[in-house]
Amino acid sequence: MSTTEKITVSAPAKLFLLGEHFVVYGAPALLTSVGLRNRVTLTPRTDTNIQIVSSKLNADLTLTQDEILKKRDLAEVEWTNTHADVTSEPLDYAVISIGEAMKYYGKNLTSGFDVEINSDVPVGAGLGSSATTSVTLAAAVALFLGEKLDPEIINNIAYEAEKRRHGNPSGADNSTVTYGGVIRFVRDPKTIEPLGINIPQELARNFVLIDTGKPHESTGEMVAMVRTLREQNPDLVNSTSRRQADLVESLIPVVKTAQIANFMEIIKAGEKNLESIGVVSDSSLEIIRAIENLGGVAKICGAGGKTGPTGILLAYHPERVRVEELMRKSYPKLHFFTAPLGVEGLRQEIA
Ligand code: MEV
Repeated sequence: MSTTEKITVSAPAKLFLLGEHFVVYGAPALLTSVGLRNRVTLTPRTDTNIQIVSSKLNADLTLTQDEILKKRDLAEVEWTNTHADVTSEPLDYAVISIGEAMKYYGKNLTSGFDVEINSDVPVGAGLGSSATTSVTLAAAVALFLGEKLDPEIINNIAYEAEKRRHGNPSGADNSTVTYGGVIRFVRDPKTIEPLGINIPQELARNFVLIDTGKPHESTGEMVAMVRTLREQNPDLVNSTSRRQADLVESLIPVVKTAQIANFMEIIKAGEKNLESIGVVSDSSLEIIRAIENLGGVAKICGAGGKTGPTGILLAYHPERVRVEELMRKSYPKLHFFTAPLGVEGLRQEIA
């Protein structure tokens, strides 16, 4: 069974306000959706094949449904053996995401479809680009099969795909992308707690997102690096994790009520904790210190990087323009931007 209608769904990017890395080992994290969206359009075909086109990856692939399911199965076996990224080709991740949804619903697709992926979310920036792909593809396949959009199911399907890409992800990325808004997330027992707030304007209007570029290391590699550090030096990682957990819990009321000074203090201390586990490269550290010297704060938001770029830095200054001036003057090659935070999660777009 499948629909004959064109289907479009979209999901937003995400970022960690705080709690990345430590969330993998059970600490709470505070995340927000970001108003950059990935849109997936699925158009029924007259044959039974599935064609995937990604404008961003400049890639195009046509497969049979059996080939998609086989690829999914192989990826699961390879991942079970390695717990590593098993998506080496550009569209592997999309194929696996579609395969996960087909397997979950276990229904026959009587016709194939063309999928077009159009994303505004930068890849490898810590903004959850892969999660937006798996969430939107799982949702589009569900609707194509005549299922309703159940966020819990879509989130679980997307998490399976995320494991094939990131090794041992916490599930925070796909959860934020699915539910949107501002959420407190705990991995186990899985807790996705929407704060049910809009970040107050006094706070929201002074964020700047700085794109330091795509890290040399993948998210999976950064997570594995922290795991090794944790095995070698459990006291350091566990005590830092406890401090970060406390900071995350204190950040929640501070964000809700826009306590600017407390917010800045927590972000600054949280960034220091991330530095102490080696996920902030020297070049990003230099930018973060320069922003602090101006009276602002900044942090990596996501996996970070050991050397060179670390994806997006979340910067905050009570006068945002001060950060923007610094960037123009001292880092003219780096792109920076603002985007709404706490936007709606996964949704079907009505044409
Ligand atoms: C990646 O966006 C964030 C990490 O905490 C990994 C994870 O949560 O899966 C580094």
